[in-house]
Amino acid sequence: MRSLIDIVDFTPAELDELIATACDIMEHPADYAERCRGKKLATLFFEPSTRTRLSFEAAMLELGGSVIGFSEANSSSAAKGESIADTAKTISCYADIIAMRHPKEGAPLVAAMNASVPVINAGDGGHCHPTQTLADLLTIYREKGRLSNLTVGFCGDLKFGRTVHSLIGALSRYTGIKVVLISPEELKLPSYVKKEVLQKSGIPYEQTTDLSAVMPALDILYMTRVQRERFFNEEDYLRLKDSYILEPRKLQNAKEDLCIMHPLPRVNEISVAVDDDPRACYFKQVLNGKYMRMALILKLLEEATV
Ligand code: CP
Repeated sequence: MRSLIDIVDFTPAELDELIATACDIMEHPADYAERCRGKKLATLFFEPSTRTRLSFEAAMLELGGSVIGFSEANSSSAAKGESIADTAKTISCYADIIAMRHPKEGAPLVAAMNASVPVINAGDGGHCHPTQTLADLLTIYREKGRLSNLTVGFCGDLKFGRTVHSLIGALSRYTGIKVVLISPEELKLPSYVKKEVLQKSGIPYEQTTDLSAVMPALDILYMTRVQRERFFNEEDYLRLKDSYILEPRKLQNAKEDLCIMHPLPRVNEISVAVDDDPRACYFKQVLNGKYMRMALILKLLEEATV
């Protein structure tokens, strides 16, 4: 039995298989409409979510399965002090697979160690968010036709942005990747990601505060929200929240085929005026996420993939 806690739990070959399955589902949805008939997905969300929870639910429904779960900690027995381990053992009696989001780093791993069904990390604190990475990889693949030989700029809150940590982990295993880290000093990528992932993999990277200076070199621009919920004080958040606001004029020196991504939700990081630019891919990411989560559910339930 497999779980997905960190994106590197899957080999690049397995990620390719998920991408191929997601593409096949898009082309032949009817072939997949009964694959999970009789199976149940439990969505255990101890933190707010729109995309991840609802795309997991849509994914399971489109595979013919059913969904149970809760969308806030206060409506579960966690509010009475129940442990993650006991919650995981309990939900294993009701569901065939679990998707869990939790504010504490490592909580989905604890769940996986105690559950008797596969557990999917749907985001754990400021640590990682592997299923967002699945959405991101499919988006890059569909927009650029490859996952190698790309210069990828990550901009915004690189300290707490768990989607950034996971995507860097995934891309570090492909060839010809260059990473540009654009953030305020206080929100730089954590040292452990630089040392354990970028340096270990030999991925060239640079750090800067100046988005416009690096814009012409980028194939992918991955914007992120400043993660208010991870700050210890509101003053720091207010000072940093608008560090980068992408507007049409700032794209004047960008590549014609730049791919602009954002895991969403956005607050102020990308002006709505950018939405009509053909390079804006963030709502495509949302749809790609549903197909990749369908492929993931099939894989973890050991149903046939392509
Ligand atoms: N990208 C993402 O995780 O969005 P939600 O918080 O809405 O699930």
